[in-house]
Amino acid sequence: MTLTNAHADQIATLLNERNQLTQKLTRKSVLDHADSYICRFSDANEVVACVQVKSVQWYQTEILHLTVAEFQTRKGYAKWLLCEAERVARTKGARLLQCTIRESNIGSRTLFESFGFLYINTFNNPSSGNNVMIFQKVLLCVQ
Ligand SMILES: CC(C)(COP(=O)(O)OP(=O)(O)OC[C@H]1O[C@@H](n2cnc3c(N)ncnc32)[C@H](O)[C@@H]1OP(=O)(O)O)[C@@H](O)C(=O)NCCC(=O)NCCS
Repeated sequence: MTLTNAHADQIATLLNERNQLTQKLTRKSVLDHADSYICRFSDANEVVACVQVKSVQWYQTEILHLTVAEFQTRKGYAKWLLCEAERVARTKGARLLQCTIRESNIGSRTLFESFGFLYINTFNNPSSGNNVMIFQKVLLCVQ
């Protein structure tokens, strides 16, 4: 999607504030991957929720940084973004969706599991000290 500088700033601020990222996002790092973001905008045209959908292999798509502004939570925005992320991945031919979630992030785990993502394993991120859980969802099985 085409992102303005203001939208890129809003995405960077939202993700930096709401996620324990080891590497902070900037306007440039968002704009460099502008095509991979899906956003929800407020009536004032400000980003209130977003997700990044990144192709890793032709068959595998990573869903990253699903984030909703705190004052807009529990309104279904994350569900809407996940539906869109899956639709985009399917359109591009992906067979597998993957995401990682901090072990302590119960809300996010509940959400992804309700979308059919399965827990695979946990690793430790030495940069943050967090235990990180891997979840996957297979989109198409062998016929
Ligand atoms: C996790 C997050 C994306 C959820 O966004 P949201 O817009 O509030 O989610 P939705 O309104 O679409 O809720 C979808 C479902 O997720 C689950 N859920 C969301 N937040 C939850 C919470 N705090 N506790 C338990 N379950 C939660 C519920 O099952 C909810 O359905 P319900 O409202 O019908 O019970 C949001 O809280 C957020 O941005 N958190 C900070 C960033 C983050 O941790 N992102 C995840 C990175 S992996």
